Amino acid sequence: MNTELYTITDPAKQTEEISAAAALLRAGEVVAIPTETVYGLAANAFDPAAVKKIFEAKGRPQDNPLIVHLASPEDVTTVAKDVPDAAYALLRRFSPGPLTVILHKKDCIPPEVSAGLSTVAVRIPSHPAANAIIRAAGVPLAAPSANLSGFPSPTTAEDVRDDMTGRVAAIVDGGPSEAGIESTVVTLATDPPRLLRPGVITAEQLREFLPDLVVDEAVLHPLAEGKTAASPGMKYKHYSPKAQIYIVKGDRAAFFGYVKRNPAADTLLVFEEDAPLCEKPCVTMGKTDEPLTQTGRLFTALRELDRLGAKTVFAREPSKEGVGLGVCNRLYRAAAFRFLNGPPRIIGVCGQTGAGKSTVCARLAAMGAEIVDTDIIAREVVAPGSPVLSDLKTAFGGDILLPDGALDRKKLAARAFASPETAARLSAITHPAIVNITLERANAAVAAGKTAVIDAPLLFTAGLQAYCAVTVKVTAPEETRIARIRARDGLTEAEAKKRVAVQAEEDALSEQADFKLKNYPPYEIDAQITAMCLL
Ligand code: TXA
Ligand code: MG
Repeated sequence: MNTELYTITDPAKQTEEISAAAALLRAGEVVAIPTETVYGLAANAFDPAAVKKIFEAKGRPQDNPLIVHLASPEDVTTVAKDVPDAAYALLRRFSPGPLTVILHKKDCIPPEVSAGLSTVAVRIPSHPAANAIIRAAGVPLAAPSANLSGFPSPTTAEDVRDDMTGRVAAIVDGGPSEAGIESTVVTLATDPPRLLRPGVITAEQLREFLPDLVVDEAVLHPLAEGKTAASPGMKYKHYSPKAQIYIVKGDRAAFFGYVKRNPAADTLLVFEEDAPLCEKPCVTMGKTDEPLTQTGRLFTALRELDRLGAKTVFAREPSKEGVGLGVCNRLYRAAAFRFLNGPPRIIGVCGQTGAGKSTVCARLAAMGAEIVDTDIIAREVVAPGSPVLSDLKTAFGGDILLPDGALDRKKLAARAFASPETAARLSAITHPAIVNITLERANAAVAAGKTAVIDAPLLFTAGLQAYCAVTVKVTAPEETRIARIRARDGLTEAEAKKRVAVQAEEDALSEQADFKLKNYPPYEIDAQITAMCLL
């Protein structure tokens, strides 16, 4: 697709460019437009086929709804119903401007825009070019940020060109976005109202009108397993540059102390005042105590990290006060909630039999971590007289016990691994008990100020990864693993291969681990652990 470029510096005079962009929108095309927050990818909100093109251009998941952009607050009732007084009060105070309000939708908003929800997000942008284009198009414009899904939002027309050339009908260049982060999103469709996404309009400002406003949990925390997001967008990986970012908790001294002790970072993401202290390449994200300078720089800084080819980045932690909350919300996501120098945490270590988890855990223990070995716990839970053992007896027969009351492991294995159903019955009995004790011990270690390492061959199958701040898969080539387990357990080649095959499912699941640690030549296990900043 040929992508037109229109540069609009004075919308009042450039009626030709405005009309051209509006005509494309009315014809069902997608046009990238400037706004005061970030650039948006706009289409006629009443035209499902046009809206579908936005999702295609961005590669956006279909269940993530779009914001509908209007020319003036009076237009709200064209797309929303049962609009509460508080909504008008907010719009009168903050619109046009970087605020999005979620309301109950009217039927004219197709499910493609609302992603099937009964609500619609509305915003009246203040950027003069955006406003002029909406007026000229004569229809509300559905528009997400104009980045490829998952990448940092674009704050200049060049950013949009990098992501969208050939994917949209036109790009309107209206200069750099003023705010630099997306609009504040607040929903009035819930009671109490909720702040879903912080922006340059702060929670404190909104509370003047919404005294019972609640800040959604997902603003500063990853979504807990099994929980649905109040705003679907919050469940997706966001704002991610290619580099792995780690946020170093604490003040400037703590940051530079950590950087000195830990050589893993190749690039630093810091505030302007920190730059002269950096002994490595650095990118700046505004001034320490001026969050409005940080919003202006954040997404540009993330894109710069990629241009520099940064791989491991240590970042300063912004303040969460006022506009800072919006900066933290974006940076925490860009860093996939990886924090360093913070409170002790739980690390999950997995890997196939023979990969050498034990070797790696021994090194982590030598570096001060507390190892919680699930193999040991698996034996403990079936101790004579335990409730798990009695459940196993009921499920697999009384003769799985030896005369002394201990478990006859060989007999149990023969019965349990006879079919997938019996194997599943075995895990259903043993896994919950193993998981509970594992977590109890890991949490006790953390409470005692240590980092806990869960050593678990079935980390992902048992769902233990959900409790780990970071996960590591220990790997080795198959021949190496087979040779190791043959030497260790005196198995034939065929027996060893069978054991490896049993672990195929966990092996596939554990590909999601945050890190792979190569336990084969040239080894350098300690160096790999250091590079992962695990401790
Ligand atoms: O500043 C902005 O808001 C920019 C510019 C272009 O206006 N737009 C923007 O759109 O950031 P987008 O799609 O990247 O982010 C919209 C967020 C998503 O997290 C989405 O899930 C949420 O708003 N959202 C939209 N409609 C919603 C609804 N009905 N209920 C809950 N969340 C909704
Ligand atoms: Mg976005």
